[in-house]
Amino acid sequence: MPLTLEQIIWLLNLDLSWEYAAMIQYIQHAAMLTGPEYTYVIQEELQHAQQEHEHAVRLSEKIQYLGGVPTVQVQQILTSLDNVEMLQQDLQAERDALARYLQRIEQLETLHMYDVAQVIREIAVVEQDHTIDLEKALGIQKVR
Ligand SMILES: [Fe+2]
Ligand SMILES: [Fe+2]
Repeated sequence: MPLTLEQIIWLLNLDLSWEYAAMIQYIQHAAMLTGPEYTYVIQEELQHAQQEHEHAVRLSEKIQYLGGVPTVQVQQILTSLDNVEMLQQDLQAERDALARYLQRIEQLETLHMYDVAQVIREIAVVEQDHTIDLEKALGIQKVR
């Protein structure tokens, strides 16, 4: 059964609250990461924070456009005193975000909301880039 407009707005607000959390988590992790090998990763994390901010702005605009009220709720933020653990937390958040957005695109397109789906598609591509950045920073080998 296709979702109602109210349900779509609720889901976009859920996505928005995760974008807020991602932005804060990246700012905090960028400040806490330490060691010469993390200089480049810190710059990347700060850039991710800016892009999550941009995503939050775009989602807020779409929620308002659809007749909803953008949430000010922030989802759970994870942190650690361990460099690698922080990057793993960020990677998990990106994988979750990407999974959420791919589902959202499908839900929006089922309702023929191709315009909003397009915006989500653009955000999803950036989350995929973030996932790749973090996999590389963690030295994850993808060859099967
Ligand atoms: Fe994002
Ligand atoms: Fe991201």
